[in-house]
Amino acid sequence: MRVALGSDHGGYELKETIRKHLEAQGLKVQDVGTYSSDAVDYPKYGFAVGCAITKGEADLGIVICGTGQGISMAANKIPGIRAAVCSETFSARMAREHNNANVLSLGARVIGAGLALDIVDIFLKTEFAGGRHAHRVDLISNIERGENV
Ligand code: RB5
Repeated sequence: MRVALGSDHGGYELKETIRKHLEAQGLKVQDVGTYSSDAVDYPKYGFAVGCAITKGEADLGIVICGTGQGISMAANKIPGIRAAVCSETFSARMAREHNNANVLSLGARVIGAGLALDIVDIFLKTEFAGGRHAHRVDLISNIERGENV
């Protein structure tokens, strides 16, 4: 599995922890930055992770900022991106199983690194259930195309 990973300065340290965790599992990680704790603007990194997915360079993405909110909003502006902010494991599993989320968003100032790694593992290992959920996700795509639902 190929994972795109990005954060602003607020998420930089957690991004480094997650990158090492994923690489230790043999996963291919595309780290789009940021590469230090210097202040940067989170939309750039949400956009970069989303583009890595829509271009087919990554299967799933992980974005991190202070709260997980701003960077997920940026990623969600890209058609085809479904970013889910998760602060516990149940939402992470459901976001994949029911919503086919392709980006996990974490708040480094909200949760600790141990919980974040559990959330990451569950998000990456859970498959989309399809079935009745596929129709609902298709309706989200309709909204992106300006169609009625
Ligand atoms: C940066 O201070 C902070 O605003 C950012 O990391 C994030 O929390 C925004 O949603």
